[in-house]
Amino acid sequence: MMYASQDLINEHEGILIGLTILEKMADKVEQSGIIEISDIEESVNFFKLFADKCHHGKEEGFMFPAMQKAGLPNEGGPIAQMLLEHDEGRKYITEMSSSIENGALEGNKFIQAAKNYISLMREHIEKENRVLFPFGDKIIPMDEQQQLLEQFEEFEEKVMGKGTHEKLHMLLHNFKVKYLKTPND
Ligand SMILES: [Fe+2]
Ligand SMILES: [Fe+2]
Repeated sequence: MMYASQDLINEHEGILIGLTILEKMADKVEQSGIIEISDIEESVNFFKLFADKCHHGKEEGFMFPAMQKAGLPNEGGPIAQMLLEHDEGRKYITEMSSSIENGALEGNKFIQAAKNYISLMREHIEKENRVLFPFGDKIIPMDEQQQLLEQFEEFEEKVMGKGTHEKLHMLLHNFKVKYLKTPND
């Protein structure tokens, strides 16, 4: 039996690796200006699909409502703050996307948006892992935890399609080899 938060914490691990890769990409643009634009596009797409649509979708659609139902207030409370941060993240993703136009990269715009996104998301994940989710583990009843896990799985298949999760993991792996030079972990 596991807590529903464990699935989200596992996804945070993937997102954090993606952020380290994005940071390397931004450094590369800053230092040399030379980068394969398709790599940036694929990386932004990873955040759009995996971090936002799938992961934040699970939190907003299922996890946060379950916490609210268990008594955690939304208005003015930690959930409202998390939702604000998801919105802010979306704004930075859009900025990163629009820094590429007709195959050309607007370097400074990309670097700024990437840096903002990276620091926002690292802090956001830290808050969820250390404070919000451990609290959710305590207040959400065990039978609902199991139900949440099932809903997560269904949702993931619906929004990303079968096999997309694996493809995104492959992408992360390839980027790790290329940008972080750590093929074995
Ligand atoms: Fe979140
Ligand atoms: Fe999260």
